[in-house]
Amino acid sequence: METIRIGFLGCGNIGCGVYRLLQTHGEAMRANEGVAFDIGAILVRDVAKKRSWAIPASLLTDRAEDVLDNPDIAIVMEFMGGEQPAASYMIRALKAGKSIVTANKMALATHWDEIVSAARESGAGLYYEASVCGAIPIIRAINDSLQANRVTSLMGIINGTTNYILSRMSSEGADYARVLADAQRLGLAEPDPTADVEGYDAAYKLSILSTLAFHRHVPVDCVYREGITGISAIDVACGKEFGLTLKLLAVAKEENGVIQARVHPTFVPDHHPLASVSDAFNAVYVNGDACGEMMFYGRGAGDMPTASALVSDLIKAAKAKRHELPAVHSAAERMADDWTCVHFVRMMAKDEPGVLSKVAGQFADEGVSIASMVQKGRCNSDGRVQLVFLTHRASERSIRSALARIDGDLASELHIIRVENE
Ligand SMILES: NC(=O)c1ccc[n+]([C@@H]2O[C@H](COP(=O)([O-])OP(=O)(O)OC[C@H]3O[C@@H](n4cnc5c(N)ncnc54)[C@H](OP(=O)(O)O)[C@@H]3O)[C@@H](O)[C@H]2O)c1
Repeated sequence: METIRIGFLGCGNIGCGVYRLLQTHGEAMRANEGVAFDIGAILVRDVAKKRSWAIPASLLTDRAEDVLDNPDIAIVMEFMGGEQPAASYMIRALKAGKSIVTANKMALATHWDEIVSAARESGAGLYYEASVCGAIPIIRAINDSLQANRVTSLMGIINGTTNYILSRMSSEGADYARVLADAQRLGLAEPDPTADVEGYDAAYKLSILSTLAFHRHVPVDCVYREGITGISAIDVACGKEFGLTLKLLAVAKEENGVIQARVHPTFVPDHHPLASVSDAFNAVYVNGDACGEMMFYGRGAGDMPTASALVSDLIKAAKAKRHELPAVHSAAERMADDWTCVHFVRMMAKDEPGVLSKVAGQFADEGVSIASMVQKGRCNSDGRVQLVFLTHRASERSIRSALARIDGDLASELHIIRVENE
């Protein structure tokens, strides 16, 4: 059996996980898959740093060329993270004919065309299952199992940190700031949580998923993005009264050739399969014209779940007679800048006779009809009370126009959350 020499770019949480899995499961891989690997070099920033798994010092290097220019290394595994130099290193390796296995959604989403072109030109392999939803084989499912479908929509909980925060806000009625602080203490959120809580991480992943699902490149800057920092305990509590659960959803749909790709806080009905996905778990709910609805669920992060996807890709790369690239035919020409759904609208309205009918009148003038309304709590010291509406399906543009017409004297602190109930 041939032993394939591989190199690592990075050896932090994920790199140590991969090293560990190759050590502990190496024998089984030889027996079950007929492949054997040998690590040639591991690029890190600081070769003297203590690592979570014992890595032989002889393998560590701080010179990228020891991996990228080593002619014996056939497959490069990238888990150094960040956009650069990771993207340039991957392109350089691909151009040299080395296959890439990566966990890096940011570099892949932001340099998609260059990375895929480099692989196409050299014929080297490009494998990135671990870049979206850790251990969940969602990329394999879209590329290799659902080819006989036209995927019409996918909706995913694809960021574990925000799902943990929203799950605890829901189960405990806790405030965002308190749960975020807890998540940081537990290592579930970064000291700078921006990439997760502002939806950037989910937007990179949605760019990749929607590109594969619709066979047209959906650049990350075409993904509408809104994070969870504006969500309060009252939103979560009001949603519960309407039978709704709040999630940070990544939503991608194709209707009449127009693609929507958006990441934002979203209510789903309590009975929807995504409502029961709690804590740091991930799930992607896919709708195809032949397969119908299905949900992929599991651990979306962590060293060993992510290493599981990376090593699976490594085996796939090693066994491939010919590397397959994603069937992406063109850029998405038509991206939606408006969409239709039920909207949850919360505002502080003056507690006076006639106010409700004036507010409802503005919605009606924009063709938005109200399905239900609740008044929460008592008047505050400004004589205002919390009003919460659920609309019937309406375009977001109409909702925003209606809200823009509402006089600030009548109602303020206007706030919308989309509801996906299909
Ligand atoms: N953590 C997860 O649960 C998870 C899940 C899915 C995907 N991912 C992705 O996996 C990747 C790695 O994540 P991680 O958590 O393992 O990160 P990490 O612990 O910060 O590890 C990064 C590694 O890359 C090395 N590195 C970074 N920049 C470098 C540079 N310019 N030159 C040389 N070496 C450099 C670091 O070297 P030193 O060790 O010497 O500092 C470290 O070994 C990221 O793309 C992330 O998005 C992570």
